Amino acid sequence: MSPFSKCFRSSWRVYACFSRRHSSLITELMENMDKRSLWDRFYTESSSKTFKNFEWFFGFDSVQDFIMPLLQSSARPDSPVRVLDIGCGTSALGPSIYRNSSFSVHVTCADISAVAVRLMQEKTQLEAIQPNNPSSLLQFVELDCTQLHRRFSPNSLDLIVDKGTTDALLRSKEGKGKASLVLQQCLKALQSSGSLLQFSDEDPDARLLWLESAALHHGLNGADVGVQEVGQLRGVCYFCYHVTPHSSAKC
Ligand SMILES: C[S@@+](CC[C@H](N)C(=O)[O-])C[C@H]1O[C@@H](n2cnc3c(N)ncnc32)[C@H](O)[C@@H]1O
Repeated sequence: MSPFSKCFRSSWRVYACFSRRHSSLITELMENMDKRSLWDRFYTESSSKTFKNFEWFFGFDSVQDFIMPLLQSSARPDSPVRVLDIGCGTSALGPSIYRNSSFSVHVTCADISAVAVRLMQEKTQLEAIQPNNPSSLLQFVELDCTQLHRRFSPNSLDLIVDKGTTDALLRSKEGKGKASLVLQQCLKALQSSGSLLQFSDEDPDARLLWLESAALHHGLNGADVGVQEVGQLRGVCYFCYHVTPHSSAKC
């Protein structure tokens, strides 16, 4: 099965209702998921009636057991745990981390699509979510994650989560180089004890190899990479790839 059809199958529910009305957009998007203008159209058209969070696959409940223990191990008495969701779209993942963490967290949800960011800012303002820890913060920013250095200095983040964003880039005609850049930027922005979690439907044989080689480029010294199965959704198996920078990866 091609990566496109696998990705298509895993998100069939949105496509099933969405694609009947917007089939040309879906066809264009499937091969160009690195393009801001197509995501802007996707989020504009999919929220044209009432806005609801959209999960590309799995929600917070299914992935929290991978995320929350890492928050706990990063927690410090004097400063918040700094979390970034790259390519957040209109997912409720970042807001759920913010709401549920008993430790102080500063959660930044970043996406290249200004439309997705605006929708999430509006929803968050409307709902006024109360965090478990009163000093936690949540923000949404428009950001091309191939250029994380514009917003995050080296060693400034404890945890980066990526649910479907690297998948989207790797499956796009012109996105593979961007996926490598995003990985390298993440490794630079993370603390040496920090973690990048990639939630993905890509098979470990392919993703582990890609992660190991992409982490070695451009002056980086590589990363330790592990994988665990998250579970199955509509016949597709999902994985959590856990990437930690080698301590000398900051040179
Ligand atoms: C497959 S969707 C995943 C959305 C969300 N994480 C989820 O789980 O529902 C990929 C997201 O990555 C965003 N994206 C694509 N290229 C990006 C880039 N270079 N920087 C930041 N976000 C990007 C898209 O706008 C889209 O929202």
